[in-house]
Amino acid sequence: MRIIGGPSSQLLSKRVSDLLGVELVPVEYKVFPDGEKYCRISAPVEGEEVAIIQSTPSDSDIIYLMELIDACEMARKKTVFIPYFGYSRQDKIFDVGEPISARAIARSIRADRVYTVNIHDKDILNFFPSPAEDLDAMPLLVKYIQEMDLKDPLFIAPDEGSLDAVSNAVSNDFDYDFLEKTRISADDIVMKPKKFDIKGRSAVILDDMISTGGTVIGASKMLKEEGAIDIYAFCVHPVLVGSTLLKLCQSGIKEVISTDTLEKITSLVSVAPLIAEKLR
Ligand code: R5P
Repeated sequence: MRIIGGPSSQLLSKRVSDLLGVELVPVEYKVFPDGEKYCRISAPVEGEEVAIIQSTPSDSDIIYLMELIDACEMARKKTVFIPYFGYSRQDKIFDVGEPISARAIARSIRADRVYTVNIHDKDILNFFPSPAEDLDAMPLLVKYIQEMDLKDPLFIAPDEGSLDAVSNAVSNDFDYDFLEKTRISADDIVMKPKKFDIKGRSAVILDDMISTGGTVIGASKMLKEEGAIDIYAFCVHPVLVGSTLLKLCQSGIKEVISTDTLEKITSLVSVAPLIAEKLR
């Protein structure tokens, strides 16, 4: 078994190789003067079983992933892990003439098996030409929160759509709820937990990704107005575009913590055990 770490998942690949006691294959990456990407795997993979780990937050990362898969053409078995699968939000045609971008990219991934982590919509898995499975990192985040020993926190799904993921992860260990929107008048909307009173409690907002931070900042503002004492924001994928992290800090959120599907300063929880488990 050889572990091949893509440029966007270098630390994660090392963590997986450490957990499995398998050597991480050295790979050279470079960019040609005209911007084209190049990679070279510096170990023979012919007849070997390889695991390629590469998130795809940018177009370059998609190209690198395709190149890595191609460089492993002679491998016996190729398992591809895409911890963060970019373009997943364009997973259907919203307006006439649009592509299903997630499908276009998934179709280009030629492997024996594909794994993603908390993909935006599980229907995307059907677009891959090979069997594909989604791994759930939310329980790892909940375990981390459990170890923080917060007093009686209330877990919050920012909307009803993410409630199932939160309730599965939290199970019966904590209270959980979602933010329900109530329209008071044409331009006055109140968002508050549907079932529980947050007054005097810590709120832990749990979402699949934080991109611009708009969702979490909006939720946090409402929770504070409702009397929450501290607000924590947890997510699987810290996309954190531009100055989002700064905005989150300025909004008064106490801590922002994520997994390492994308390697950011917030990535304190590793999904390496999920990946290693599938390779054992
Ligand atoms: C929505 O479907 C997702 O679960 C996230 O809530 C959303 O993508 C977060 O985006 P942003 O940080 O830009 O509000």
